[in-house]
Amino acid sequence: MAWVMVTGGSGDIGRSVATRFARDGYDVVLHTFRGVSRAEVAAAEVRALGREAAVVRAHLGRPSQTEKLVETVLDRTSGIEAFVGTAASAVMRPVADLTPKHLSWSFQVSALPLVTLVASLRPLCAVALTSPGSVSYVPDYAAAGAAKAAMEALARYLAVELAPSTRVNVVSVGLVDTRSSRRLPQWDSLERDIRENTPMRRLVTPDDVAGAVAWLCSADASMVTGATIVLDGGRHLLH
Ligand SMILES: NC(=O)c1ccc[n+]([C@@H]2O[C@H](COP(=O)([O-])OP(=O)(O)OC[C@H]3O[C@@H](n4cnc5c(N)ncnc54)[C@H](OP(=O)(O)O)[C@@H]3O)[C@@H](O)[C@H]2O)c1
Repeated sequence: MAWVMVTGGSGDIGRSVATRFARDGYDVVLHTFRGVSRAEVAAAEVRALGREAAVVRAHLGRPSQTEKLVETVLDRTSGIEAFVGTAASAVMRPVADLTPKHLSWSFQVSALPLVTLVASLRPLCAVALTSPGSVSYVPDYAAAGAAKAAMEALARYLAVELAPSTRVNVVSVGLVDTRSSRRLPQWDSLERDIRENTPMRRLVTPDDVAGAVAWLCSADASMVTGATIVLDGGRHLLH
Protein backbone atom coordinates (compact mmCIF):
# COMPACT_ATOMS: atom_id res chain seq x y z
CA MET A 1 0.00 0.00 0.00
CA ALA A 2 1.24 3.53 -0.75
CA TRP A 3 2.20 5.77 2.16
CA VAL A 4 2.22 9.55 2.29
CA MET A 5 4.19 11.40 4.95
CA VAL A 6 2.84 14.78 6.03
CA THR A 7 5.01 16.97 8.24
CA GLY A 8 3.00 19.36 10.39
CA GLY A 9 0.17 16.84 10.53
CA SER A 10 -1.18 18.63 13.61
CA GLY A 11 -1.90 21.83 11.64
CA ASP A 12 -5.15 22.58 9.84
CA ILE A 13 -3.54 22.35 6.40
CA GLY A 14 -1.59 19.19 7.30
CA ARG A 15 -4.81 17.56 8.51
CA SER A 16 -6.66 18.44 5.32
CA VAL A 17 -3.79 17.06 3.21
CA ALA A 18 -3.77 13.85 5.29
CA THR A 19 -7.49 13.19 4.85
CA ARG A 20 -7.38 14.06 1.14
CA PHE A 21 -4.59 11.51 0.57
CA ALA A 22 -6.48 8.96 2.67
CA ARG A 23 -9.51 9.44 0.41
CA ASP A 24 -7.17 8.95 -2.57
CA GLY A 25 -6.13 5.56 -1.12
CA TYR A 26 -2.93 6.35 0.78
CA ASP A 27 -1.96 5.27 4.29
CA VAL A 28 -0.66 8.28 6.18
CA VAL A 29 2.27 9.12 8.46
CA LEU A 30 1.44 12.29 10.38
CA HIS A 31 4.43 14.12 11.79
CA THR A 32 3.99 16.45 14.75
CA PHE A 33 6.13 18.16 17.34
CA ARG A 34 4.04 19.72 20.12
CA GLY A 35 0.55 19.02 18.80
CA VAL A 36 0.31 15.26 19.38
CA SER A 37 -3.38 15.37 20.33
CA ARG A 38 -4.28 17.35 17.21
CA ALA A 39 -2.27 14.92 15.04
CA GLU A 40 -4.14 12.04 16.71
CA VAL A 41 -7.45 13.66 15.70
CA ALA A 42 -6.23 13.77 12.09
CA ALA A 43 -5.03 10.15 12.39
CA ALA A 44 -8.49 9.11 13.62
CA GLU A 45 -10.05 10.81 10.57
CA VAL A 46 -7.67 8.89 8.31
CA ARG A 47 -8.56 5.58 10.00
CA ALA A 48 -12.28 6.40 9.70
CA LEU A 49 -11.65 6.56 5.95
CA GLY A 50 -10.36 2.97 6.07
CA ARG A 51 -6.64 3.76 5.82
CA GLU A 52 -3.73 3.19 8.22
CA ALA A 53 -2.31 6.15 10.12
CA ALA A 54 0.82 6.56 12.25
CA VAL A 55 1.72 9.60 14.35
CA VAL A 56 5.44 10.36 14.74
CA ARG A 57 7.09 13.14 16.74
CA ALA A 58 10.21 15.17 15.95
CA HIS A 59 11.59 18.66 16.51
CA LEU A 60 12.61 19.43 12.94
CA GLY A 61 14.95 22.17 14.15
CA ARG A 62 17.25 19.42 15.48
CA PRO A 63 19.03 17.55 12.65
CA SER A 64 19.51 14.48 14.88
CA GLN A 65 15.73 14.30 15.44
CA THR A 66 15.07 14.70 11.71
CA GLU A 67 17.46 11.82 10.97
CA LYS A 68 15.84 9.66 13.64
CA LEU A 69 12.43 10.54 12.15
CA VAL A 70 13.56 9.12 8.79
CA GLU A 71 14.58 5.84 10.48
CA THR A 72 11.28 5.59 12.36
CA VAL A 73 9.23 6.28 9.25
CA LEU A 74 11.13 3.74 7.15
CA ASP A 75 10.73 1.14 9.96
CA ARG A 76 6.99 1.68 10.26
CA THR A 77 6.10 1.78 6.55
CA SER A 78 6.93 -0.01 3.33
CA GLY A 79 8.59 3.21 2.11
CA ILE A 80 7.16 6.65 1.38
CA GLU A 81 5.54 7.29 -1.99
CA ALA A 82 4.48 10.89 -1.38
CA PHE A 83 5.93 13.54 0.95
CA VAL A 84 4.18 16.77 1.88
CA GLY A 85 6.09 19.29 3.99
CA THR A 86 3.79 21.65 5.90
CA ALA A 87 5.78 22.14 9.13
CA ALA A 88 7.05 25.67 9.65
CA SER A 89 7.94 28.11 12.38
CA ALA A 90 9.25 31.68 12.32
CA VAL A 91 9.49 34.76 14.49
CA MET A 92 7.28 37.52 13.10
CA ARG A 93 9.09 40.88 13.39
CA PRO A 94 10.36 43.73 11.20
CA VAL A 95 13.59 42.64 9.51
CA ALA A 96 15.80 45.04 11.49
CA ASP A 97 14.58 43.49 14.75
CA LEU A 98 15.55 39.95 13.75
CA THR A 99 18.64 38.43 15.34
CA PRO A 100 20.78 35.74 13.67
CA LYS A 101 19.13 33.30 16.09
CA HIS A 102 15.65 34.20 14.82
CA LEU A 103 16.77 33.80 11.21
CA SER A 104 18.54 30.48 11.90
CA TRP A 105 15.42 29.17 13.63
CA SER A 106 13.14 29.65 10.63
CA PHE A 107 15.70 28.13 8.26
CA GLN A 108 16.36 25.20 10.61
CA VAL A 109 12.71 24.31 11.21
CA SER A 110 11.11 25.26 7.91
CA ALA A 111 13.69 24.99 5.12
CA LEU A 112 16.56 22.63 5.92
CA PRO A 113 14.51 19.52 6.86
CA LEU A 114 13.13 19.54 3.31
CA VAL A 115 16.53 18.43 2.03
CA THR A 116 17.14 15.74 4.65
CA LEU A 117 13.63 14.31 4.45
CA VAL A 118 13.24 14.29 0.68
CA ALA A 119 16.78 13.08 -0.04
CA SER A 120 16.50 10.29 2.56
CA LEU A 121 12.92 9.14 1.98
CA ARG A 122 13.13 9.39 -1.83
CA PRO A 123 9.37 9.57 -2.44
CA LEU A 124 8.02 9.48 -5.98
CA CYS A 125 6.56 12.91 -5.31
CA ALA A 126 7.45 15.65 -2.81
CA VAL A 127 5.58 18.89 -2.27
CA ALA A 128 6.57 21.77 0.01
CA LEU A 129 4.34 24.66 1.04
CA THR A 130 5.56 28.23 0.80
CA SER A 131 3.80 31.58 0.46
CA PRO A 132 3.94 34.67 -1.78
CA GLY A 133 5.93 36.31 1.04
CA SER A 134 8.93 34.49 -0.46
CA VAL A 135 8.98 36.93 -3.37
CA SER A 136 7.10 40.00 -2.17
CA TYR A 137 6.79 42.11 0.94
CA VAL A 138 4.54 41.05 3.83
CA PRO A 139 4.86 43.03 7.10
CA ASP A 140 6.84 41.21 9.83
CA TYR A 141 7.34 38.21 7.51
CA ALA A 142 11.08 38.54 6.71
CA ALA A 143 12.26 35.45 8.61
CA ALA A 144 9.47 33.27 7.24
CA GLY A 145 9.68 34.76 3.73
CA ALA A 146 13.44 34.19 3.48
CA ALA A 147 13.07 30.56 4.61
CA LYS A 148 10.23 30.07 2.10
CA ALA A 149 12.43 31.52 -0.67
CA ALA A 150 15.18 29.06 0.31
CA MET A 151 12.68 26.21 0.15
CA GLU A 152 11.65 27.19 -3.37
CA ALA A 153 15.30 27.23 -4.47
CA LEU A 154 16.12 23.95 -2.70
CA ALA A 155 13.07 22.32 -4.30
CA ARG A 156 14.34 23.26 -7.76
CA TYR A 157 17.77 21.74 -7.02
CA LEU A 158 16.22 18.60 -5.56
CA ALA A 159 13.96 18.36 -8.62
CA VAL A 160 16.95 18.24 -10.97
CA GLU A 161 19.24 16.09 -8.88
CA LEU A 162 16.66 13.49 -7.77
CA ALA A 163 15.02 13.15 -11.20
CA PRO A 164 13.69 10.99 -12.71
CA SER A 165 12.78 8.97 -9.61
CA THR A 166 11.49 11.85 -7.47
CA ARG A 167 9.44 14.85 -8.56
CA VAL A 168 9.73 17.89 -6.28
CA ASN A 169 7.33 20.82 -6.42
CA VAL A 170 6.15 23.75 -4.31
CA VAL A 171 2.71 25.24 -3.70
CA SER A 172 2.94 28.92 -2.76
CA VAL A 173 -0.23 29.53 -0.79
CA GLY A 174 -2.06 32.78 -0.10
CA LEU A 175 -3.77 33.48 3.22
CA VAL A 176 -5.63 30.48 4.63
CA ASP A 177 -8.07 30.61 7.54
CA THR A 178 -6.25 28.31 9.99
CA ARG A 179 -5.85 28.17 13.76
CA SER A 180 -2.33 29.63 13.47
CA SER A 181 -3.03 32.36 10.90
CA ARG A 182 -5.92 33.61 13.06
CA ARG A 183 -3.36 34.21 15.82
CA LEU A 184 -1.50 36.77 13.67
CA PRO A 185 -1.84 40.30 15.09
CA GLN A 186 -2.61 41.53 11.55
CA TRP A 187 -5.29 38.86 10.92
CA ASP A 188 -8.25 41.27 10.60
CA SER A 189 -6.52 43.58 8.13
CA LEU A 190 -5.01 40.69 6.15
CA GLU A 191 -8.36 38.97 5.84
CA ARG A 192 -10.05 42.22 4.75
CA ASP A 193 -7.32 42.84 2.17
CA ILE A 194 -7.75 39.36 0.70
CA ARG A 195 -11.52 39.62 0.47
CA GLU A 196 -11.31 43.05 -1.19
CA ASN A 197 -8.29 42.56 -3.45
CA THR A 198 -8.36 38.94 -4.55
CA PRO A 199 -9.87 38.31 -7.96
CA MET A 200 -11.49 35.14 -6.60
CA ARG A 201 -12.96 37.18 -3.67
CA ARG A 202 -12.22 34.65 -0.91
CA LEU A 203 -9.45 33.13 1.17
CA VAL A 204 -7.74 29.90 0.20
CA THR A 205 -9.07 26.92 2.18
CA PRO A 206 -7.06 23.98 3.56
CA ASP A 207 -8.98 21.78 1.11
CA ASP A 208 -7.83 24.00 -1.81
CA VAL A 209 -4.24 23.33 -0.71
CA ALA A 210 -4.87 19.60 -0.33
CA GLY A 211 -6.39 19.47 -3.82
CA ALA A 212 -3.38 21.17 -5.42
CA VAL A 213 -0.95 18.90 -3.59
CA ALA A 214 -2.96 15.79 -4.53
CA TRP A 215 -2.90 16.85 -8.17
CA LEU A 216 0.88 17.38 -8.06
CA CYS A 217 1.24 13.81 -6.74
CA SER A 218 -1.13 12.36 -9.36
CA ALA A 219 -0.20 10.73 -12.65
CA ASP A 220 -1.66 13.78 -14.44
CA ALA A 221 1.30 15.81 -13.09
CA SER A 222 3.97 13.27 -14.05
CA MET A 223 5.87 15.88 -16.13
CA VAL A 224 5.66 18.61 -13.48
CA THR A 225 8.81 18.98 -11.41
CA GLY A 226 10.70 21.97 -10.02
CA ALA A 227 7.55 24.09 -10.29
CA THR A 228 6.20 26.62 -7.83
CA ILE A 229 2.43 26.85 -8.25
CA VAL A 230 0.86 30.01 -6.85
CA LEU A 231 -2.44 29.20 -5.13
CA ASP A 232 -3.81 32.55 -3.99
CA GLY A 233 -6.96 33.26 -6.01
CA GLY A 234 -4.94 35.74 -8.10
CA ARG A 235 -4.05 38.09 -5.20
CA HIS A 236 -0.42 38.45 -6.36
CA LEU A 237 -1.61 39.93 -9.67
CA LEU A 238 -2.91 43.11 -7.98
CA HIS A 239 -0.75 45.61 -6.09
N1 LIG B 1 -2.11 29.58 7.10
C1 LIG B 1 -1.76 30.33 6.08
O1 LIG B 1 -2.34 31.39 5.80
C2 LIG B 1 -0.61 29.90 5.20
C3 LIG B 1 -0.33 30.64 4.04
C4 LIG B 1 0.76 30.25 3.25
C5 LIG B 1 1.52 29.15 3.59
N2 LIG B 1 1.21 28.48 4.73
C6 LIG B 1 2.07 27.36 5.08
O2 LIG B 1 1.30 26.18 5.23
C7 LIG B 1 1.89 25.36 6.25
C8 LIG B 1 0.85 24.99 7.30
O3 LIG B 1 0.24 26.16 7.78
P1 LIG B 1 -0.81 26.16 8.99
O4 LIG B 1 -1.49 27.47 8.99
O5 LIG B 1 -1.62 24.88 8.95
O6 LIG B 1 0.23 26.21 10.17
P2 LIG B 1 0.30 25.57 11.60
O7 LIG B 1 -1.04 25.15 12.05
O8 LIG B 1 1.02 26.53 12.44
O9 LIG B 1 1.20 24.32 11.28
C9 LIG B 1 2.57 24.41 11.37
C10 LIG B 1 3.08 23.04 11.69
O10 LIG B 1 4.48 23.14 11.88
C11 LIG B 1 4.83 22.31 12.95
N3 LIG B 1 6.01 22.80 13.64
C12 LIG B 1 6.21 24.00 14.21
N4 LIG B 1 7.42 24.04 14.80
C13 LIG B 1 7.99 22.82 14.61
C14 LIG B 1 9.22 22.23 15.00
N5 LIG B 1 10.14 22.90 15.69
N6 LIG B 1 9.47 20.95 14.62
C15 LIG B 1 8.55 20.25 13.94
N7 LIG B 1 7.35 20.75 13.53
C16 LIG B 1 7.08 22.02 13.88
C17 LIG B 1 3.65 22.35 13.90
O11 LIG B 1 3.67 21.14 14.64
P3 LIG B 1 3.19 21.04 16.19
O12 LIG B 1 1.98 21.96 16.31
O13 LIG B 1 2.84 19.61 16.31
O14 LIG B 1 4.33 21.46 17.05
C18 LIG B 1 2.46 22.45 12.95
O15 LIG B 1 1.93 21.18 12.65
C19 LIG B 1 3.08 26.15 6.80
O16 LIG B 1 4.25 25.75 6.13
C20 LIG B 1 2.72 27.57 6.44
O17 LIG B 1 3.86 28.40 6.31
C21 LIG B 1 0.18 28.82 5.54
